Amino acid sequence: MGLGHLMHSNPHPGTEGLTIDHGGSYDVFGAVFFGGRRNRTYRRLAALSGAKPGDRILDIGCGTGYLTRRLAEIADSGSVVGLDPSAAVLERARKLTPATNCTYTVGVAESLSAADDSFDVVANCLMLHHLPEDLRPRALAEMRRVLRPGGRLLIGEFRPPTNSVGRHLVEAITGPAMAHNPIDLLEPMVSKAGFEGVNSGDLRPWIRYVTAVKPGATA
Ligand SMILES: C[S@@+](CC[C@H](N)C(=O)[O-])C[C@H]1O[C@@H](n2cnc3c(N)ncnc32)[C@H](O)[C@@H]1O
Repeated sequence: MGLGHLMHSNPHPGTEGLTIDHGGSYDVFGAVFFGGRRNRTYRRLAALSGAKPGDRILDIGCGTGYLTRRLAEIADSGSVVGLDPSAAVLERARKLTPATNCTYTVGVAESLSAADDSFDVVANCLMLHHLPEDLRPRALAEMRRVLRPGGRLLIGEFRPPTNSVGRHLVEAITGPAMAHNPIDLLEPMVSKAGFEGVNSGDLRPWIRYVTAVKPGATA
């Protein structure tokens, strides 16, 4: 089962996704798992999102708000909403967030309550593998819907080790969803959801990122 059971508590009302309800344990785990690189990696992700001062930004599956807070620094006079099904994890996010341009709300990726075209940037990190595979395309369709034309998508996902010893270790620690995360399907899935300019790369130690743009911006 791995250490995941210390942080997760499914079933959760409102989603089939695997929610995190023990934010304190999650952050300790994240610090150890990223081996001192968590801050640097997440700052890089925030920059890769293409967010700019004044932007309206949505961070889906924000957990304890680690990426949300780094996006809020860039957004400056803009605003960031961190969304997660787990009210418990959002309580920790609020406690850790002094920034006044950053708010948190309960919600699910597969059915966002936000209006069409209402964000400049939609980000998510380590969230998609928490959804059952059949919900992932639905979540991407929702991300596209709430982005304005020309708005930018950032996905950060866990990149499993390529060797079997490493994969077994990750599976023993975290469970199969991370160890066998099908990251090669991310780019095709994003294109199929109707995004353009799809780009990807790796960040050490564990992240594959994908960026893309919602078509339709007028000059
Ligand atoms: C591994 S954590 C990542 C948290 C944060 N983004 C980070 O990088 O530290 C995955 C998060 O996805 C959330 N999640 C699970 N099901 C979800 C859903 N259906 N919609 C949005 N988020 C979901 C979990 O509650 C959890 O907080």
